[in-house]
Amino acid sequence: MSRRVFANCLLATMVDGGIAYGLVEAGAVAVEKGLIAWAGPIADLPVEFHDWPRTDLTGALVTPALIDCHTHLVFGGDRSREFALRLGGASYEEIARAGGGIRSTVAATRAASEEELLQSALRRVDDLLADGVAVIEVKSGYGLTIEDEMRMLRVARAIEQHRPVRIRTTWLAAHALPSEYADAPDAYIDEIVIPGLRAAHAEGLVDAVDAFCENIGFTPAQVRRVFEAARDLGVPVKLHAEQLSDLKGAVLAAEFDGLSADHLEYLAASDVPRLAEKGVVAVLLPGAFFALRETQLPPIGALRTHGVVMAVATDSNPGSSPMSSLRLAMSMACTLFRLTPEEALAGATRHAARALGLAAEYGSIVPGKRAELAVWDAAHPDFLSYWIGGDLLRGRIVGGEFHER
Ligand code: NIG
Ligand code: FE
Repeated sequence: MSRRVFANCLLATMVDGGIAYGLVEAGAVAVEKGLIAWAGPIADLPVEFHDWPRTDLTGALVTPALIDCHTHLVFGGDRSREFALRLGGASYEEIARAGGGIRSTVAATRAASEEELLQSALRRVDDLLADGVAVIEVKSGYGLTIEDEMRMLRVARAIEQHRPVRIRTTWLAAHALPSEYADAPDAYIDEIVIPGLRAAHAEGLVDAVDAFCENIGFTPAQVRRVFEAARDLGVPVKLHAEQLSDLKGAVLAAEFDGLSADHLEYLAASDVPRLAEKGVVAVLLPGAFFALRETQLPPIGALRTHGVVMAVATDSNPGSSPMSSLRLAMSMACTLFRLTPEEALAGATRHAARALGLAAEYGSIVPGKRAELAVWDAAHPDFLSYWIGGDLLRGRIVGGEFHER
């Protein structure tokens, strides 16, 4: 029977109980049928677990597996040329308005075969797996026709057939206006975004609905119509909000009981209580802040004061956040946004699980949750955010089984 006790480890349970990281020294985790049966100090291991097979983790640090709750990692081509242009002085918005940016990735994504999209996505997935990630959210948004958007989500779902990872897919057709709808954003919403959402939902491809609420994206009124369609289908929403300007997108996400509001550099501190009231997770994306050389910081102090839960994600995408390391995003969240290393790890575990509606299954080491754990060569969980790069993962516990790297 698939029972095992993982013993002799430093457990960062990420249980929110007043002890930093929910730390347990000389810990043990009992797992059965892929679920956590018990966790605590080995000295307290209940007698019923004493004769279960044991794996000695020789003092390694064990955390919940990490969760990347905001990515765009299925796409064609890359935008390294645009990187050079931005370094030469062109802004992200200028490049987007000139038909570059997201639209250039749309052309490359439409031109790529499903197999090509899958193979390039798997490289980025492998990078994330090497960072101890077990759940990845993947958005559409580079197809911008009904069929191309659905194709992206099918490719995203196919990742699960090739790697030991759970994928959550998000409908983000309202990401950019395709050239065939130039100057007709409302028609694009009515003819592509909403009917496409219904078709993708009917195929079981939609775990959540997102939009890019921005001057170079869609207005709050347009996003509202997409959110109403999501609500009719019973699908939760989330939003790219306040990344480049304050259009009050986060408040709109709160009105629709959104899972999360993401980016938030231009969120007004006075709107933070609305997120707190509705339990909307603030997803921080420091990779985009870094790569766009943004200087406006999200209102971290106000988020903290009002008890808004903060997640951290890579935003892995070819334009604004060309990265595939969640640990690097955690490091950036600390150095650029002044999160504590504990907040950063909570942001990539417990709070990221909540941003995906998966809090009952993932994000902390407690009985009943999935035995999806990361085993690290590190003496303390602070190290995971502190050390930049490197290969710190000793192995992963996947479905309750230890896979040493
Ligand atoms: O999260 N802001 C909109 N979407 C992405 C960028 C996508 C792109 O530039 O390709 C983001 O930053
Ligand atoms: Fe994004």
